[in-house]
Amino acid sequence: MLAGSELILGVTGSIAAYKAAYLLRELRRAGALVTVVTTAHAERFVGALTWRTLSGRPVLSDLFDPRSEEAVEHVALAERAHAVIVAPATANILAKAAHGLADDFLSTLLLAARCPVLMVPAMDGGMWSHPATSANVATLRARGVTVLEPDSGELASGLAGKGRLPEVDSILEAVERLLTPVRDLAGERILVTAGPTREPIDPVRYLSNRSSGKMGHALATAALRRGAEVVLISGPTSLTPPSGAVYVPVQTAEEMREAALQHIESATIVIKAAAVADYRVRDPRASKIKSSKTEGLTLELLPTPDILKELAARRGRAFIVGFAAETRDVRASGTEKLRSKGIDLLVANDVSRQGIGFESDDNEVLLLDRWGGAIELPRMRKLAVAGAILDRALALRAAAAASPDPAAPHPRPLP
Ligand code: CTP
Repeated sequence: MLAGSELILGVTGSIAAYKAAYLLRELRRAGALVTVVTTAHAERFVGALTWRTLSGRPVLSDLFDPRSEEAVEHVALAERAHAVIVAPATANILAKAAHGLADDFLSTLLLAARCPVLMVPAMDGGMWSHPATSANVATLRARGVTVLEPDSGELASGLAGKGRLPEVDSILEAVERLLTPVRDLAGERILVTAGPTREPIDPVRYLSNRSSGKMGHALATAALRRGAEVVLISGPTSLTPPSGAVYVPVQTAEEMREAALQHIESATIVIKAAAVADYRVRDPRASKIKSSKTEGLTLELLPTPDILKELAARRGRAFIVGFAAETRDVRASGTEKLRSKGIDLLVANDVSRQGIGFESDDNEVLLLDRWGGAIELPRMRKLAVAGAILDRALALRAAAAASPDPAAPHPRPLP
């Protein structure tokens, strides 16, 4: 979405202005065309040359600069833009925007803008929590402006609190979402599980598998972008959870089961992308098992609960999507798994193949549904696969709902 988009980056007077330089660089890398608009105070922190160099465009600041062709063009500029991002946004610009003040280029442009606006606050914790700021943020949000929550941590004042500029990745994600027009999942509550589980052997060792969590995280990201509320229950991964998801980190299959059961009732769609360990050790040791160079070690393993089956049994109105990691006879084993787990849609992939599945950024899957449909998707990025799975789930659910006999829904809904 970012590639080719015309953006305005407003920078206001906060020490976090230097972080906006990194944001600008990433926006440019993603192919966005960016015009930077600074306030007078912002220039005290980072000079125009930095913005000009990184954006490749003149920097706008003065409403009445006779040298600037754009100076009187704030309306035209606001009209051309696909989105305005203000990062960092001080308490002052939030207040001015909330009240419609227009006393410099940026505030005037915000008043003229009809495109989506994203405000990324950064300020001292006390200023963020001040009732005046809270009221201004509420006003802006009620008007459709996206105002991100600041991060918590160490602040420029030396104190700790909520007020830090969110990480660049979170801001980029918010911009992507702002530019994504399809919000066909608004109102959906999607429960996604991701990653492997770890079943302890002793305090330092565990049983697990090669799942990276990328597919589940891609599903959560795609669903959030399309307007869904997402609960992401994930085993240990090296990934940063997408901002906006309710993130529940877990370790074991039992923890994943408990977390999933807590959310099943309110879910409208469940997608079980996690690679749950099939076995756990009967008695994980309380202290580290000493190695013996002469004797082997026998561990007694017990099956973990089949979470997917249990969720399907307690589904309520939720549409249930499962995954199948197969190494041979993908279609036959997938069809059997679909039936035995009592689910609606199964995403089957051959994890023995190189370049797809586990740890990879790509996937190539077969979508099998309980009405007999089978769709082979070509190899795609996991985010694109995620989009196709969500599309298929929506189409199948709609076709089933339209069927006159709920017990025998549409025999073969169209993709
Ligand atoms: N699954 C689960 N709980 C388990 C095992 C698997 O919820 N204890 C879910 C996975 O999240 C996935 C689906 O079941 O959505 C299929 O996982 P897979 O490992 O392919 O199948 P298994 O049921 O473990 O069967 P098998 O290993 O025999 O193929």
